[in-house]
Amino acid sequence: MAHAKAARRASAAPGTPGARSVRAVGPAGNPVSVDGGGPLSHTTVLLHEAVDAVLTSPEGCYVDGTFGRGGHSRLLLERLAPAGRLIAIDRDPQAVVYARADAALSADPRFQIEHAAFAELPALLAARGVAAIDGLLLDLGVSSPQIDDPARGFSFRFTGPLDMRMDTTRGESAAAFLARATEQEIAEVIRDYGEERFAPAIARAIVARQAEGPPLTTTAELSALVARSVRTREAGQDPATRTFQALRIFVNAELAQLEQVLEAALALLKPGGRLVVISFHSLEDRIVKTFIARHSREVFDRRAPFAPPAALRLHALARLRASPAEVAANPRSRSAILRVAERTAVGALA
Ligand SMILES: C[S@@+](CC[C@H](N)C(=O)[O-])C[C@H]1O[C@@H](n2cnc3c(N)ncnc32)[C@H](O)[C@@H]1O
Repeated sequence: MAHAKAARRASAAPGTPGARSVRAVGPAGNPVSVDGGGPLSHTTVLLHEAVDAVLTSPEGCYVDGTFGRGGHSRLLLERLAPAGRLIAIDRDPQAVVYARADAALSADPRFQIEHAAFAELPALLAARGVAAIDGLLLDLGVSSPQIDDPARGFSFRFTGPLDMRMDTTRGESAAAFLARATEQEIAEVIRDYGEERFAPAIARAIVARQAEGPPLTTTAELSALVARSVRTREAGQDPATRTFQALRIFVNAELAQLEQVLEAALALLKPGGRLVVISFHSLEDRIVKTFIARHSREVFDRRAPFAPPAALRLHALARLRASPAEVAANPRSRSAILRVAERTAVGALA
């Protein structure tokens, strides 16, 4: 039955919601493409591992904070009972349009999709009368349909406008930032978010270029300029990789978003509720790791040696990487780190 349905979906035109791959419910470790594996499809990373980790009660209320093309959401819905509920959000309007156009998702009374950034989760849930949740799943970063669409400006591999906003309805594009920022501001962004040792030289070149000609408006112009400014190259890596990562993180305030949603999760998760985060680079993972450690480890306070130990609000449960089979099938999973923590009852709402 599930296979017949999947086969019907797979025969739909690539890029349409009905075109999901038959591998959407494959066994753990198998890559799962949504959109039928076409040029703008997304292969979900750590699909079964993340869903197994977040779902504790089939009747529970869950949030998928990064819907993307819905790989994790679909498997969660398969595992949820009729009384279960899944609220999915994405800050990219195209992801929301995609979810709303999906007949199966739209017809499912347990599912809801909202256009929002996950830092807005407390207000979004409060407006829907949801005080506490059983699990929050975050699969950070950008989806393949975003990176692979030249019009979004995320990739140095394609020529497109230098945009990089996940939410194209608000905020400042990368081009607008580079046009108004000082050399020092640009250097700090590239150094701090790209961990790029040539950040000062790249910033100098960008500012000189803006001073002498029309503003930088395309990905191709920026990547050519970075290639001229970076003296050595890392094996197997385009010289513009770190600069593009830095600008994307900055334009989307990705690290601030993450810090805010982690704090919100502490307040929203029920006792026994799970926080599951998949990160793709060290800056993100460091924030998740430090946050979980801060709330799950007893810290000896030298200033108050006889005080009772601080009450712990999380238990750290797991840290996982993609299996060699998944990495071989989907190279994007190579850098993924999944962390799982469980909310204790200390100070929890329900
Ligand atoms: C890696 S993809 C998620 C893929 C998804 N798990 C799937 O299987 O299709 C990340 C998605 O999260 C969204 N996103 C990233 N940061 C966000 C934020 N702060 N708030 C809401 N959505 C965000 C992106 O727009 C993108 O669609």
